[in-house]
Amino acid sequence: MNAIDIRPATTSVYGAVQFGYLLVESPRLGKWKRFAAEGIGMAIAEDAPGLLAFRTDGHARRLVVRKRDREDLALGWQIASPDALDLILRRLSDRGVAVEAVAGDEAALRGVARYWRFLGPKRQIYELFVEAKRSDEAPKVLGRGFVTGERGLGHVAISTRRPDAMIAFWREIFDAKISDFIEDRVGGVNLRIAFLRVNPRHHSIAVAATVGLAMDPFATKIQHVEMQAASLDDVGAAYRRCRALGVKIAMAVGQHPNDRDVSFYAVSPSGFYFELGWSAAEGEDIESWPQTTHRGISVWGHKPQDQTLGDKLAQVRNGLTSLFRKEYSPLQG
Ligand SMILES: [Fe+2]
Repeated sequence: MNAIDIRPATTSVYGAVQFGYLLVESPRLGKWKRFAAEGIGMAIAEDAPGLLAFRTDGHARRLVVRKRDREDLALGWQIASPDALDLILRRLSDRGVAVEAVAGDEAALRGVARYWRFLGPKRQIYELFVEAKRSDEAPKVLGRGFVTGERGLGHVAISTRRPDAMIAFWREIFDAKISDFIEDRVGGVNLRIAFLRVNPRHHSIAVAATVGLAMDPFATKIQHVEMQAASLDDVGAAYRRCRALGVKIAMAVGQHPNDRDVSFYAVSPSGFYFELGWSAAEGEDIESWPQTTHRGISVWGHKPQDQTLGDKLAQVRNGLTSLFRKEYSPLQG
């Protein structure tokens, strides 16, 4: 008798992947506490020596900041079921990507029982988990709070010198779909940004690349992280609180053409930008949107606010030094 080919029913993990948590390592815990709680309006879940945790919804923690001498971060991705996780792990294993399963204190720190860790594109730490610890208590956020649910925590934008490899990684491992593209000229370079979705959120990942000479003008591991506010008032209130706290604003309030988010970009204490946005496209079905290329990152606003000449020179310097670095891809080495 022939052996029966036992294949799992799951063949796609589209819709089963959400941005779950952000773990930041930073020496600047005092600044993070003020920024996240008093500026953005997240609820403090833990405030211990060397450790901060914040909530935005029913999850026990969504942002964890741990004291370390060097800046680093890990992206936590929630997978909807053990079957979907198995499929993702098998895809990684088929491609020779080493995955480490972690439980215990490190998992508890992230608000999960266990997670699976591997090096993603640009040697960024990716962590997969299925179940997050939840809290029955309503999070004491400022304003009306944050939009999460089946769309996850928000989105992450990453700059890359190998956009094709990064997009292929997201499509092959996570069955990501391309929502649309934006092209614009920013700071003297032409940028093309691909917006990838893995669930009903317009994008959970944005992949930004220069057109022509492949440069990476950002020294931080991610260019920005975004969370979605429940109301436009919340965006305005957070903007005013950040200004009052003296938080540097990279770009003032404006609106994107694709997800129609009205947002501002603050400079987080770790240097990457933090976008807080409210979606004017709430309730629309992303699956029916045309896949177009928009010209211009913003339909209005997003004007540079507290960026100095020094900041711009640093981006040019980062871009030039990136030319001499090899960027890692888990699929293509
Ligand atoms: Fe964004």
